[in-house]
Amino acid sequence: MATNRTFTMIKPDAVEKGHIGGILSMITEAGFRIVSLKLTQLTLADAQAFYAVHKERPFFGELVEFMTRGPIVAAILEKENAVEDFRALIGATNPADAAEGTIRKKYATSVGENAVHGSDSDENAAIESNFHFAGREQF
Ligand code: CMP
Repeated sequence: MATNRTFTMIKPDAVEKGHIGGILSMITEAGFRIVSLKLTQLTLADAQAFYAVHKERPFFGELVEFMTRGPIVAAILEKENAVEDFRALIGATNPADAAEGTIRKKYATSVGENAVHGSDSDENAAIESNFHFAGREQF
């Protein structure tokens, strides 16, 4: 089951600009089923924990500040080959490198403010999903 699921966040930049509906449309039109969905806001401790893998990177402070500055949409998505297919749908981390037709090409503005997150492995998809959603919120 875990191999068919991924975790995403619509980041504060995209929420601020009113792109929740547009991004969710692209996700469901690409064949992903919504397993869990909520509008929420990361605390400082949440963001530091979620991005702990990046804590030695020079952009860590900027990343945590950005991800806590306003609400995000958290979601679990299901589809065959979910992690890989979702990363293809969102496009490269830097929107300047993102392919036509990807979410980041359409909605991201910079490598930091890149509109959406997508898990990078099945293992992280499960960890990130369980960070945000209780079992009874996963449908
Ligand atoms: P994401 O892949 O969702 O998770 C890690 C995030 O770190 C990444 O998106 C970017 O938002 C951010 N990030 C990566 N590289 C940089 C960078 N050079 N400067 C600022 N933020 C970055």
